[in-house]
Amino acid sequence: MIKIAPSILAADFSQLGKEIQDVEKGGADYVHVDVMDGHFVPNITIGPLIADSIKPHTHLPLDVHLMIENPDQYVAVFAESGASIITVHQETCPHLHRTIQLIKDHGVKAGVVINPATPVETIRDVIHDVDLVLLMSVNPGFGGQSFIGHTVKKIEQVAAWRKQQQLHFEIEVDGGINRETAILCTKAGADVLVAGSAIFSKSDRKQAIAGIRQAAGK
Ligand code: DX5
Ligand code: ZN
Repeated sequence: MIKIAPSILAADFSQLGKEIQDVEKGGADYVHVDVMDGHFVPNITIGPLIADSIKPHTHLPLDVHLMIENPDQYVAVFAESGASIITVHQETCPHLHRTIQLIKDHGVKAGVVINPATPVETIRDVIHDVDLVLLMSVNPGFGGQSFIGHTVKKIEQVAAWRKQQQLHFEIEVDGGINRETAILCTKAGADVLVAGSAIFSKSDRKQAIAGIRQAAGK
């Protein structure tokens, strides 16, 4: 079954604990935590202190998406904050293999992510080492943007490599996910869909999650 990872970027930060419990009750699989530094992406959001304070409010795995320069410097602190998965951008890691090993050394699942303009070939040599490949379907920095259609071809390519090489990493897609785009992603081979505005902008989160799941047809 498809996994749904609500992005708390679209939640009401004044009552984050309650918002997270709401999506957990609504059937979410992961809590997607968007960490932005104002350098790699043009926005500043969540730091490790917030990850610390949300962890006691949920049983769900924290899926921490680091949109920051020099991610190596923050792996330990997010691991201590209770991250289950830490995902780093290929674009920020000159020694990507080393960074992935660093995440694993902290007992956390390691993910790699690429921007819409980054070719999938740039992560081909690390797909054996990761637990998750995240494909950005918007330019990172903000919620509420439109899905970039070319991502579908990238999902298909990564899914084909996974099959050929009998690997087991998850394929996650992030940005502009709604009922219409969810089906395109799952047909192409995605396993995890991140959705911010499509879930938190609705008053009934359970219905919103079920709607995406149903539309995804998986
Ligand atoms: C974008 C973030 C996404 C974003 C998704 O930089 O990585 O996780 O919050 O939001 P929606 O679902 O609204 O596109
Ligand atoms: Zn994200």
